Amino acid sequence: MNGARPRVFVSRQIPTDGLNPIRAAADAAIWPDELPPPRAELLGAVAGCDGILTLLTDRVDDELLDAAGPQLRVVSNYAVGFDNVDVAACTRRGIPVGNTPGVLTETTADLAFALLLAAARRVAEGDRYVRAGRWKTWGPLLLLGPDIHGATLGIVGFGRIGQAVARRAQGFGMTILFHDVAELPAEVTAPLGARFVELDELFARSDFVSLHVNLTSETRHLVNGDRLRRMRPTAVLVNTSRGPVVDQVALHAALRDGIIGAAALDVTDPEPIAPDDALLTLDNCLVVPHIASASRQTRGKMAEMAAANLLAGVAGERLPNVVNPEVYEDGERPRTRRP
Ligand code: DGY
Repeated sequence: MNGARPRVFVSRQIPTDGLNPIRAAADAAIWPDELPPPRAELLGAVAGCDGILTLLTDRVDDELLDAAGPQLRVVSNYAVGFDNVDVAACTRRGIPVGNTPGVLTETTADLAFALLLAAARRVAEGDRYVRAGRWKTWGPLLLLGPDIHGATLGIVGFGRIGQAVARRAQGFGMTILFHDVAELPAEVTAPLGARFVELDELFARSDFVSLHVNLTSETRHLVNGDRLRRMRPTAVLVNTSRGPVVDQVALHAALRDGIIGAAALDVTDPEPIAPDDALLTLDNCLVVPHIASASRQTRGKMAEMAAANLLAGVAGERLPNVVNPEVYEDGERPRTRRP
């Protein structure tokens, strides 16, 4: 950088809580459109940058890192998830990757619970029913759904967000089962009244299943035809994690054939879901456009955190939230990169 202001690329308009500090400290090119930069434009835009701020819609891989050039010092992802980033490729080049954990936990749990309630109590379907002029009278059998209070909730992935969903479920007097690959101490699970069970048992016993795992090769299609068939015919599946965690073809068949009662998805595979996707023809499938973290406050805090990661990275400082801390030899400075 030779004392010059760092050059950075920000791949979308993010809240000013992040853009203002970035503009103040760097020469920033900010992608102006609502839609993500097409691949060729993204590759061109990152050339010569010291730092890039990416979204989950941008694929960060060797091709993009090559296009940026050897001066690249940081990739700051505006999300807690980072399955769009080839972290190993960044690590090989000594490039730290930042993310935004923590700030979106409660907001995401809010939406997971909203989806659970809405799918069970057929809120979107009821709204469509009214708007279509079909509401003629109060009906004893109209739009019936299962009770939420007192039901059993199975939480798959009992990290920060899974636990936040459990706290909400406590307020509804739910029985809470969970599964996680990590062993969790009783100090975490006991106050939530949450009991560990194996995955198959969780799917078989739960009235509601809520997914909170990262997308990895192990969790891709974790919810497949077999798991869906283990569920109760009235059960509701909620996904606010990543679309590919659910096999959508199997889900469509399960919803259509009454294998399960309903599903509510914040995430799909692919995103966006095609408007003519068979899932969207089903009344018992509720889909929203990946908005779990979309509160004004949380998106502002995510922007602040992503900016802090970006600016620390271009200054050669340790990122406040780094996904691949192994790039730091002495805990402070990025390792010398391969040429
Ligand atoms: C994330 O942060 O990973 C969410 O999916 C978007 O906020």
